[in-house]
Amino acid sequence: VRRGFSSSAVRSVVIKNVTIIGGGLMGAGIAQVAASTGHSVTLVDTSDDILKKSVKGIEGSVKRVVKKKFADKPEAGEELIQKVLQNVSTSTDAGLAVRGSDLVVEAIVENLKIKQDLFATLDKLAPAHTIFASNTSSLSVSDIASSTSRLDRFGGLHFFNPVPMMKLVEVIGTSATSQETFDSLMSFSKVLGKTPVSCKVRFTIIIVAVSCHASKEDIDIAMKLGAGYPMGPFELSDYVGLDTIKFIMDGWSAMDPDNPLFAQSELLNKRRILQVQVIMCCKFSVERCHCETDLML
Ligand code: NAI
Repeated sequence: VRRGFSSSAVRSVVIKNVTIIGGGLMGAGIAQVAASTGHSVTLVDTSDDILKKSVKGIEGSVKRVVKKKFADKPEAGEELIQKVLQNVSTSTDAGLAVRGSDLVVEAIVENLKIKQDLFATLDKLAPAHTIFASNTSSLSVSDIASSTSRLDRFGGLHFFNPVPMMKLVEVIGTSATSQETFDSLMSFSKVLGKTPVSCKVRFTIIIVAVSCHASKEDIDIAMKLGAGYPMGPFELSDYVGLDTIKFIMDGWSAMDPDNPLFAQSELLNKRRILQVQVIMCCKFSVERCHCETDLML
């Protein structure tokens, strides 16, 4: 399926130079992983003091990785530390940093207006081929992208914390994200050593209810790698059986008829196409995911 429109000038971009805006928890982690996989990274934040702390944090984190994974190969470990530090440069000038970038990953404060203002400025300064991505956990990527003129080269790259440890990356395409951009973001995530799952719309697991139009396989991967579930919700649904799931839903619905979480699923009732109303019991909350899948029963 081809998504959105695509700029004829833009083909799938091989990402080498990456600018990461925001050197906090997530930005520093993304910078570390991108640098250790051979990318040239510019980490941007609002002050040199913050950036110094970010780089110190990256160094400490790589050293911990090296201690674990290179205990018997100290030279290779030292090489990795040097490689990461050489591949990361810092800047307080985002406009300057994006000029040579293939990809900009934004990991600043979770505020729509601030993210929009940042991207509106960068849009005027970055080369035409540069892809913009936000690591937002809860905002609409379309809303963030709307401040730019590169809707086809804009997507979401949602990493999980701690970034060096967590294998999952959700790649989010809006209705305007081009297939080339989407493919580039998927490839980039793989080069980072991550397992990307595709999300056409926001797919944020654990804390908020998820609205997703992703494949059942991707949802299962996301829940297993991202939330540490032993089985994905679709695997579990298969295991439990759809009839049982329907009975459970009916029971909850009878107990709490006004709760939208327990609303009837027409599709599940018809048992033609499964609209799983996944109950995600996790340590933070219990939420339901409305997922339409093409799983034929
Ligand atoms: P953080 O507070 O640790 O880091 C944000 C950094 O951005 C700070 O260093 C701040 O100085 C910098 N910053 C703020 N405005 C800036 C600007 N205009 N230009 C340059 N730098 C700026 O935040 P954290 O946790 O790293 O989150 C960043 C983003 O990642 C948010 O959108 C958050 O929702 C998302 N996210 C967070 C996760 C988490 O577990 N913390 C998980 C997945 C996504």
